[in-house]
Amino acid sequence: MRILGIESSCDETAAAVVEDGVKILSSEVASQVEIHHRYGGVVPELASRHHVEAICPMVEAALAACGMEAGDLDAVAVTQGPGLVGALLVGFGFARACAFGLNIPCVGVHHLLGHIHSVFLEPEKTPPVYPFVALVVSGGHTGLYHVPDALTLELLGQTRDDAAGEAYDKIAKIMGLGYPGGPVIDAMAAEGEGGRVFFPRAFLDKDGLDFSFSGLKSAVARFLSEDGGKTSRADIAAAFQDAVVDVLVSKAFLAVEKMGCRDLAIVGGVAANRGLKKKAAQEADMRGIRLHMPSPFLCGDNAAMIAAAGYHYLQAGKVLGLDADVFSRA
Ligand code: KG4
Ligand code: ZN
Repeated sequence: MRILGIESSCDETAAAVVEDGVKILSSEVASQVEIHHRYGGVVPELASRHHVEAICPMVEAALAACGMEAGDLDAVAVTQGPGLVGALLVGFGFARACAFGLNIPCVGVHHLLGHIHSVFLEPEKTPPVYPFVALVVSGGHTGLYHVPDALTLELLGQTRDDAAGEAYDKIAKIMGLGYPGGPVIDAMAAEGEGGRVFFPRAFLDKDGLDFSFSGLKSAVARFLSEDGGKTSRADIAAAFQDAVVDVLVSKAFLAVEKMGCRDLAIVGGVAANRGLKKKAAQEADMRGIRLHMPSPFLCGDNAAMIAAAGYHYLQAGKVLGLDADVFSRA
């Protein structure tokens, strides 16, 4: 079963062809990072317009990269939400028209379920066993889920304010590093010493599974303005990253313990973070938990993960009706 995946929920226009939910035949991503960089965040109207420009070339490139024609496709899977409505509508409208024209089914995929399916796409890595716990950490979401099967997400806890990636982006904006902040702060942190400054870890003393990152963001902003350049930016970045990683890893393993699972998946843009990878791997080793984190090319938004999740929607007969629409919130 060959599924064309389409993703346009935020600032990446992506198309991919995936076989049977696990084998990537092609995966193309057009990033708008250059466009939004100067604004320090994604500008929704600009994102929509650039999706319109990129969607056809991306789908054509995905088909060409695996030597396929549209007629070879068995189904189309598209991100239905959550995300920016104007951005989602571009991919959604395109996917539905494409499926209608080809007379093949179209399924609408939940973006977060898509991220979770990114851990099933690398043949050299053993996939998680259901039920497992998933930590989804991206620019728009930070949440812990119990995943009993391929199509069910049971929310265990989530951020009460900023997402972890959003905290990275906001700190980068304050430091004048542009958008997105994650990769640049991650690189800076690797050059610094985290122990020189201490930033607060919200809710770490509590037994719950919720997160909060806005206090940390304010603490770093305050420190930056009061320090007057005495502490190196690398040390500040390292201390900030340590605080984020400490909370993410502690809560993720607390969730695994509470749910009695043996597998933990950490997915989404922030899963590319080197500090997070290292600490999560150490903790998993110590506790005998199987940790699943995608390679960086599958952490950020992509369409292969959407096609992978779409395969299961199709198996379950969850095909979009003519009245289906996108949705903005989880
Ligand atoms: O999953 P994604 O591409 O889009 C959303 O669905 O939000 O995630 C993008 C987010 C951005 O906030 C970006 O700063 C963050 O992921 N990010 C990182 C790293 N690479 C990307 N955060 C921390 N460390 C990284 N290496
Ligand atoms: Zn995402």
